[in-house]
Amino acid sequence: MTDNKNNFGFSTRAIHHGYDPLQNNGALIPPIYLTSTFAFATVEYGAACFAGEQSGHFYTRISNPTLALLESRMAALENGEAGVAFSSGMGAIASTFWTLLRPGDEIIVNRTLYGCTFALLHHGIGEFGVKVKHVDMSDLAELEAAIGPATRMIYFETPANPNMKLVDIAAVSGIAHQHPDIVVVIDNTYCTPYLQRPLEMGADVVVHSATKYLSGHSDITAGIVVTSQALADRIRLQGLKDLTGAVMSPQDAYLLMRGLKTLALRMDRHCSSARVIAGFLQDHPAVEWVAYPGLPSFPQHSLASRQMKLPGGMIAFELKGGLAAGQRFMNALQLFSRAVSLGGAESLAQHPASMTHSTYTPEERTRHDISEGLVRLAIGLEDLADLLTDIEQALKA
Ligand SMILES: Cc1ncc(COP(=O)(O)O)c(C=O)c1O
Repeated sequence: MTDNKNNFGFSTRAIHHGYDPLQNNGALIPPIYLTSTFAFATVEYGAACFAGEQSGHFYTRISNPTLALLESRMAALENGEAGVAFSSGMGAIASTFWTLLRPGDEIIVNRTLYGCTFALLHHGIGEFGVKVKHVDMSDLAELEAAIGPATRMIYFETPANPNMKLVDIAAVSGIAHQHPDIVVVIDNTYCTPYLQRPLEMGADVVVHSATKYLSGHSDITAGIVVTSQALADRIRLQGLKDLTGAVMSPQDAYLLMRGLKTLALRMDRHCSSARVIAGFLQDHPAVEWVAYPGLPSFPQHSLASRQMKLPGGMIAFELKGGLAAGQRFMNALQLFSRAVSLGGAESLAQHPASMTHSTYTPEERTRHDISEGLVRLAIGLEDLADLLTDIEQALKA
């Protein structure tokens, strides 16, 4: 099959990009190269590989044909030049930070971040001489004022985990790129490239926890970076090879490529069910507030419609009665599992303040817009009627 990533649609690329069965003994499904190392024809050839003068695989921590196929497929889906695969989303994020930031540099991040990213910044790179500055990125004037001569990176999630607040990718990238030394890095985990393609809106680097929707079955941990060829080479040869060693296994690359084939179908279903459930919650008398980008009442609804193809499968809400009511609700759920993570077939409910965002102190959670009573739902692929029945009976509790 000829490979033209610009001409094929999203799902066709997710299924076929970068692979021709007829070049692989007719195997319809790409082989898994289960090898940690690769033999050199001559010692000179090996030396040329190490010197970067010869392309080719020589050690799986640096590259492997199964990982290379996944990386090129992800680049085709995000519309970037190159991808780098990691053993987890945190591996991808940490490798990107450690590669692109140096002591004395400053990183500006959104007010609300996934708990372990917050911890990596405040208990990790922040303690090695990188200054971390939080701003509310929905306020572009605040962002512009925060940028200084040492700013090297602007980093955010949109929607933010867990409060669902959005950031205008094109506007922030436009401001950042008035400064040639700043790279814009976006965690696109909640959306996947099916819903939102930050590189097309001006961002420089996209990172993912591929543990979630991309793989889609809650059975692997994985991470991906997609960016320019030059930045991908740096992140691979510094962040991945030497600084973290967080390499993905070839088996996980296979599972991830299997998940990608159904990404569009799954995302359509996650989003259509979440839209109905968010509306149901909003109308329920026990509910204090709901944050879901697809609700017309969502304060950034018009930005969501502009920037996201569909509003996603994640919902944040709080019950009247706050934390205690939220705990009673979660304990009463029968079909939803009480579990962290998201993006799989099974619907999940979790309490960020005591789970994913317990890396913040209570005071930090207040400052960073994460309320103690917030309940986070990851809407799965079960029948919508069954999910609604479960939520309704748990709300009665
Ligand atoms: C938005 C977001 N980014 C990054 C991560 C980290 O990914 P991983 O758990 O694959 O390391 C998570 C995990 O929940 C997440 O929700």
